[in-house]
Amino acid sequence: GTVHAFHGEHQAGISTPAQDRLHFAVFDVDSTASRDDLIQLLKDWTAAAARMTAGEEVGGGADGSPLAPPDDTGEALGLPASALTLTFGFGPALFETADGDDRFGLADRRPPELTALPRFRGDALVEQLTGGDLCIQACADDPQVAVHAIRNLSRIAFGTASLRWSQLGFGRTSSTSTSQATPRNLFGFKDGTANVKAEEQKALDEQVWVGAEQGPTWMVGGSYLVARKIRMVIESWDRTRLEEQERVIGRSKGEGAPLSGGTEFTEPDFHTTGATDAPLIDRDAHVRLAHPDLNDGIRLLRRGYNYVDGNDSLGRLDAGLFFLSYQSSPERFVTVQRSLANDALNEYLKHVGSAVFAIPRGIATGSWIGRELF
Ligand code: HEM
Repeated sequence: GTVHAFHGEHQAGISTPAQDRLHFAVFDVDSTASRDDLIQLLKDWTAAAARMTAGEEVGGGADGSPLAPPDDTGEALGLPASALTLTFGFGPALFETADGDDRFGLADRRPPELTALPRFRGDALVEQLTGGDLCIQACADDPQVAVHAIRNLSRIAFGTASLRWSQLGFGRTSSTSTSQATPRNLFGFKDGTANVKAEEQKALDEQVWVGAEQGPTWMVGGSYLVARKIRMVIESWDRTRLEEQERVIGRSKGEGAPLSGGTEFTEPDFHTTGATDAPLIDRDAHVRLAHPDLNDGIRLLRRGYNYVDGNDSLGRLDAGLFFLSYQSSPERFVTVQRSLANDALNEYLKHVGSAVFAIPRGIATGSWIGRELF
């Protein structure tokens, strides 16, 4: 199986090919934890993450002294690395709490870009699915490997940080490499066609990675992650005519081609009109409003997952898209999300969770995550 390098210029899990499975976890640092406790946690997380990414057990493994709990919980024993990547991030509240408490002496290190996201039209956010001090994105081709990683990192955090909210995802909704086939989201449409891909070095440098002139130093080569839990009203969608589904997205369902013509990777043309003089791609179509032409040239690196959290009391699937996007500043996401205020897709969506994180640059061998921050 694939093994991704843990150390490097960028953290793995961003431009590495999107794996099939996700376990995303957000932690709050306990109110009793000190700056030194936080630093120790980041060191311990780094050591464990490096081992698990390589397919190895945490610490001394799943056996050892019969008088102590084993270092590793054991459920990934015998499983390959499964392309596991662990990507760490810092939320705005780590630097300074909402009521202005500089708990860890980090307030003056907060990048000006890193602030809580504004409220968007149609937001129906649930408090327990928003914000948080620290995040870990675990992606792997085997769900047991991703869950094992989050479980062991949570266990290591015991006494310093606790889980605030978390999300499992079962199918990638984007491609991040031209070597991958475009997958589909739960509306049945190809998703990720126009995504920023690992092979596009220039686009990555301009749109995704924080540059040296932008800074701060610990963020150079890093990125900003926006997470949005978007519930999809599957039952309404499934009663909608195909023609209407395609109008809403602006692409065909089968091929994923823009409604202006061509095949999947043909650039959409928003000016070509049909018999009625109306543009072939509707003015409120999702792909038009999200397109760089309408957003100052902005492209996002999308890396989201499908989720189903069982069903609600009315017998409807509690399902949707756990949207994850990486960009060199959260402001870029804000621009696109504001542009989607009149998106025809909104009728079928409900944004219930939201968070933003600074994703520090990659970790050098022998170093630990966020070291230059302290
Ligand atoms: C494109 C679905 C939410 C940004 C697309 C495409 C589909 C899709 C089917 C066309 C294929 C592609 O290029 O990937 C959805 C669904 C969503 C959702 C079902 C919610 C459940 C969002 C959000 C954003 C976003 C919240 C950002 C704020 C984009 C962008 C593109 C895109 C930037 C590419 C546009 C282009 O360059 O042509 N989406 N999307 N999407 N979406 Fe979404």
